Amino acid sequence: MPFRTIIEPFRIHSTQAIQHTTPEQREAALVRAGYNLFGLHADEVLIDLLTDSGTGAMSSRQWAAMMDADESYAGSRSFYRFQDVIGGITGLKEVIPTHQGRAAERILFSVLVKPGHVVPNNTHFDTTRANIEYCGAEARDLVIPEGRVPAAKHPFKGNMDVAALEATIKEVGRERIPLVMVTVTNNSGGGQPVSIANLKAVRAVCDRYEIPLYLDACRFAENAYFIKLREPVYADKTPREIARELFALADGCTMSAKKDGLANIGGFLAMNDPDVARQCRNLLILTEGFPTYGGLAGYDLEAVATGLEEALDEDYLKYRLRSTAYLAEKAEQAGVPVVQPPGGHAVYLDASALLPRVSPAQYPAQALAVELYRVGGVRGVEIGSVMFGKPRPDGGETPAALELVRLAVPRRTYTQSHIDYVAEVIAEVARRKDSVQGYRIVEQAPWLRHFTARFEPI
Ligand code: F0G
Repeated sequence: MPFRTIIEPFRIHSTQAIQHTTPEQREAALVRAGYNLFGLHADEVLIDLLTDSGTGAMSSRQWAAMMDADESYAGSRSFYRFQDVIGGITGLKEVIPTHQGRAAERILFSVLVKPGHVVPNNTHFDTTRANIEYCGAEARDLVIPEGRVPAAKHPFKGNMDVAALEATIKEVGRERIPLVMVTVTNNSGGGQPVSIANLKAVRAVCDRYEIPLYLDACRFAENAYFIKLREPVYADKTPREIARELFALADGCTMSAKKDGLANIGGFLAMNDPDVARQCRNLLILTEGFPTYGGLAGYDLEAVATGLEEALDEDYLKYRLRSTAYLAEKAEQAGVPVVQPPGGHAVYLDASALLPRVSPAQYPAQALAVELYRVGGVRGVEIGSVMFGKPRPDGGETPAALELVRLAVPRRTYTQSHIDYVAEVIAEVARRKDSVQGYRIVEQAPWLRHFTARFEPI
């Protein structure tokens, strides 16, 4: 096709109004929320880029499938469809529905992980790390060195450092490593993809030491399309064929269907080992539900089954990755450095580069996130020292390695003009950068403080 413009490969079938607010309303909302964007009412937000999880739009086919769902407690037809679709995409034999990703994590780790164990990953997502630590084990991040440098360009910045993996196994001993995980795409590292070549190398190490390999597969379809674009041997394969190859290298996966399942809720756990599956199902019954619904309604199983198929559509993936890259380009043009290259689901603004006057002790990424809301009603999320700063015995704090604001793009939800608007807001904040002030924390919880902390401008 001769046309350059990549369009949204859908037309809008039902709409939901979003509300403009006045600067005075936004200021009052900030004061009420203690300058914590988690404390806003969503109606006070114009463009919500807090997360891409469960916030996407469903298709008319998903809604139609939901209407025809089977709500039987045991053996629902909707479960068998869910199982067939997941089996078809992943090739994994045992499929266990869960209400979202972290439920799959908790169940899998409760079965496999014991106190004193070490679980390597490229980068653990917060809930993955927390669930491993809750089992008394260590969650170790082994992404390649380029994956830790925002400005470093590398086609597969989510790759695992294979030498570091092998060194870890030698250091702690094979018997203390119950599984290796690889997160596709690597959310905590900027939504960066993992190559098939890297996964094959990880697999070879796992085979040598007989350690099972699991994928954290939340964004597997986006990862598959990055492989098509960037790993030359896969240029002529479909995203579905590439996804199949990814899963074929693993013994199992955990999945939040709130991402590439294109659903508002749902997840699953899948594996080949029938004995592990049996133990997981026993735990599932205890807390989630019978193995043919796992805490989901029959209509959720249908939404996920249809969503997983749609997420592998090539036109959709082309639009998806392009729209994220477009936002990243606009932010850079406005003078705001971003993590490079842009990931699949989100753009990460580098707050310390934009606001060098605000010291890490005054939370520059929090200051930038607040300013984006104050100026234009755009909500992102701080990924910096509020989230990852560590208290020191002297009462001070060791800051996080990076001060980032994540703008996550919900799937099929905002149009190009919404994104153009966000870019204008970013540009306006960049113009005002010399007047942006830092913050101090006035109230905080002992853990996961970023959700509830209250701040005061300095
Ligand atoms: N793994 C990854 C890589 C994730 O990004 C998430 C969620 C989970 C696991 C947990 O899944 O939320 O369904 O329990 N990430 C969301 C985010 C919350 O905003 O990045 P869940």
